[in-house]
Amino acid sequence: MQEWNGSVAFITGGGRGIGLGIARALGKRGARLALADLDEAALSRSSEELSAVTEAETVQLDVRDRAAFAAAADLVESKLGPVDLLFNNAEIAPKVPVREWNYEKWDVALGVNLNGVINGLQTFLPRMIERGGGGYVVNTASM
Ligand SMILES: NC(=O)c1ccc[n+]([C@@H]2O[C@H](COP(=O)([O-])OP(=O)(O)OC[C@H]3O[C@@H](n4cnc5c(N)ncnc54)[C@H](O)[C@@H]3O)[C@@H](O)[C@H]2O)c1
Repeated sequence: MQEWNGSVAFITGGGRGIGLGIARALGKRGARLALADLDEAALSRSSEELSAVTEAETVQLDVRDRAAFAAAADLVESKLGPVDLLFNNAEIAPKVPVREWNYEKWDVALGVNLNGVINGLQTFLPRMIERGGGGYVVNTASM
């Protein structure tokens, strides 16, 4: 089983669901964790659980907000060190059929599910490349 001692993982949508599952798996293998999510209550629950296992920081972030993404990266890197594992996992899924969507729903869905991923890449890839130490990016998507 691969160990991740010394790695720092930044996980969007880390407050619950698959993001929290990724955090649990990496925490057990020695990675330090930065969980970013819109949902502050979910972050607080995750942080309480994961802090018992590894170093874990949380940051409230709307992945659509580019400036906030950069600020979140600065914050967690100052506390945990350079991020070398990026999980663009946050999503919003309108729970109604497409025929019932309007422009507002499309803007939110594309803003989070597509632009949120682009914002993660634009924030962290240059940092990883400049440091020259490598890294991994996992972009999670859905139908
Ligand atoms: N669950 C599935 O069956 C399934 C299937 C295929 C793909 N996926 C993909 O896996 C990923 C995670 O899915 P999940 O089921 O864990 O979802 P989930 O709804 O359980 O969790 C998503 C998290 O993203 C957060 N989030 C929503 N909008 C945000 C924003 N603007 N900024 C920051 N955080 C925000 C939510 O607060 C939540 O904590 C998604 O990309 C999804 O498309 C899931």
